[in-house]
Amino acid sequence: MTVFKNQVAVVTGASSGIGKAIALGIAAQGAKLCLLGRKLDQLLAIAKIAEETSPQVVCYQLDLNVDEDIEKLKTRLEVDFGQVDLLIHSAGVITLGELKTASVKDFDLQYRTNVRAPYVLTQALLPMLISSQGQIVFINSSAGLTAKAGVGQYAATKHALKAIADSLRDEVNSLGVRVLSVFPGRTASPMQAAICETEGKTYNPDRLLQPEDVAAVVIHTFSLPRTAEVTDVQVRPFVKS
Ligand SMILES: NC(=O)c1ccc[n+]([C@@H]2O[C@H](COP(=O)([O-])OP(=O)(O)OC[C@H]3O[C@@H](n4cnc5c(N)ncnc54)[C@H](OP(=O)(O)O)[C@@H]3O)[C@@H](O)[C@H]2O)c1
Repeated sequence: MTVFKNQVAVVTGASSGIGKAIALGIAAQGAKLCLLGRKLDQLLAIAKIAEETSPQVVCYQLDLNVDEDIEKLKTRLEVDFGQVDLLIHSAGVITLGELKTASVKDFDLQYRTNVRAPYVLTQALLPMLISSQGQIVFINSSAGLTAKAGVGQYAATKHALKAIADSLRDEVNSLGVRVLSVFPGRTASPMQAAICETEGKTYNPDRLLQPEDVAAVVIHTFSLPRTAEVTDVQVRPFVKS
């Protein structure tokens, strides 16, 4: 399959869950891959699978909350690939807790990872994305549209992420760049397993959205003709009772 032949995809959160599924799905369609994350061992294991279908896969170990790491990445991408066509923001963190007790330190970490980091990375790579008339996806959350009890900090960061995506779309559509927000419900991943543990619920991955389902939404949307732009997609688990 060669839908993304000659295209370079940068994937955050590529070491796990939804980001990993998107990276492998895009590699299966012939894209060159830049895999981003802090856990190099996991990135290398994913790269090994991706190399079966992708012409070039490079792992970049970085902490998205460190601005110097993003600056270094930008320089390395210019040297290693010279172009960026697809930017996939999947990295994220969540901490649960009601406002009366939730820690501000947790809030700060979620803000830095879920809002500031995708903003800074997009800003760094935007010249290359404009030059390629590329595409950007922000993996948001159902919590980015509706905030329920106990998830206020995370929901606030995801609402902010939607605002960034919407403003950016308005700024770059005229330059040929498409911007997508995807709002998944509960998805089987290490993050969701940890959420269930905190909530005291059984983690039953078979009854959740699969990371590959979210990847399929992104790949299909990225593959649409240039006469169409999908701006927002909500996707949730579908389980027969
Ligand atoms: N799972 C769900 O139910 C669900 C539902 C809706 C939306 N989402 C969203 O989907 C996205 C992916 O979540 P997931 O379920 O795939 O979670 P996951 O399996 O926990 O993966 C999270 C990813 O984020 C990366 N990451 C976190 N902090 C980072 C940092 N400071 N620097 C670099 N990378 C960092 C992790 O990489 P390293 O640890 O290697 O750094 C990891 O690859 C998130 O934005 C999440 O909010 C998830």
